[in-house]
Amino acid sequence: MSEEIIVVEGNGTLTGEVRVSGAKNSALKLLAATLLGQGPSVVRNVPLISDIEVMSEVLRTLGAAVTREGHAVTVDTADVSSFETPYELVSKMRASISVLGPLIGRFGRARVAMPGGCQIGARKIDMHLAGLEHLGVEFTVDHGYLEANAPDGLHGAEVMLTFPSVGATENLLMAAVTAEGTTIIENAAREPEIVDLCNMLNEMGCKVTGGGTPSITIEGVDLSELHPCDHVTVGDRIEAGTFLVGGALTGGPLKVTGIDPRFLRMALMKLREMGCDVETGEDWIGIARTGELRPVEIQTLPHPGFPTDLQAQFMLLAALADGNSVITENVFENRFMFAAELCRMGANITIEGHHAFIQGVKSLQGAPVSSTDLRAGGALVLAGVIAEGQTTVHEIRHIDRGYEDYAGKLQSLGADVKRVKA
Ligand code: UD1
Repeated sequence: MSEEIIVVEGNGTLTGEVRVSGAKNSALKLLAATLLGQGPSVVRNVPLISDIEVMSEVLRTLGAAVTREGHAVTVDTADVSSFETPYELVSKMRASISVLGPLIGRFGRARVAMPGGCQIGARKIDMHLAGLEHLGVEFTVDHGYLEANAPDGLHGAEVMLTFPSVGATENLLMAAVTAEGTTIIENAAREPEIVDLCNMLNEMGCKVTGGGTPSITIEGVDLSELHPCDHVTVGDRIEAGTFLVGGALTGGPLKVTGIDPRFLRMALMKLREMGCDVETGEDWIGIARTGELRPVEIQTLPHPGFPTDLQAQFMLLAALADGNSVITENVFENRFMFAAELCRMGANITIEGHHAFIQGVKSLQGAPVSSTDLRAGGALVLAGVIAEGQTTVHEIRHIDRGYEDYAGKLQSLGADVKRVKA
């Protein structure tokens, strides 16, 4: 099959209403957590994206039966008997290592291929391992595979993370739920997706408190006390933020539904600083802009700080602002590859270490560009909507990893965006 590209006609508008899908970063971990329920769990509002297909494959490889009906995924983990995740899948999607915690929680052991480097920096898993070691897990590396064993069973412990890593918090949580005694994760990640996972674990019979705060307490229960559940994934704040940037770029008015605006406080604050009118309701956010885009200073930080997954989209906004902006990336190394693509469209951006200095320009020109990662891909399509002339976005498999029907949703907002065979 020949690769597809996205073709965008410029000088476009984005107005109307769009509903976001369930959060990719939540759904992936919720699916992994079904391993603890030992029976058929249903996870609803799961986005139709390729990363979810990879996670479904990971679970099937372990022996689970995974079926999908629309946005509801049923995972029957009753017959799971394998605890090995092959390189072929981990190399496709790093988040496959999210099964490490629940496998340890269920079997006291796991064998998971080591994730390699990745385009947005080193992305180590040392904190996952150090935390799990506190619970009694021993690790060895064997021919590229990480072997985990808890010879004396899992026991509760106080674990202080050196950085509030999302993945480490999740893996620790999903192992600690069956440990003997109490585990406290200090400096835990506070992302809304962590809260979603804590809620689902509690629906399965786990005893987790403090999700969404820097200190999460887990009272271990016996594995036999855990049961399947039926859970609805929270809305995707990054998808919502991406469409809001689209509204800010074109002026809107644009309304995003299916999202709790509290998940995006910092991003909404920055949109207002940049001159946008932002309104919120219980599960929607509206945006419009009539004046100039104002420059901004942004530092990415763990939640509730500004999300690194919206950095590229806001760099695009800043590129068209009336003045000089600075964006500092504190979460990942090498997450500025997007800047070079945007400069090919006429942006004026200088990168120095983990700072991006952006001098606003009046307009961008359509050009052939390549998605360097998922969020950069989303931003390049938006850049095409606002640019003069035609933009072709290549390597759109990155976009398909995390945005459900991105071209279709942008079309429904009035943009001329289509997928074509290259
Ligand atoms: C998750 C999200 C990703 C988001 C990120 C930060 C998923 C599937 N992905 O990634 O979209 O950008 O949170 O919000 O949910 N680190 C270490 N050692 C570790 C763990 C992490 O050094 O053991 C470093 C990483 O290299 C990175 C930083 O900590 O620089 C943040 O990583 P982390 O919060 O763990 O992100 P992920 O869970 O990988």
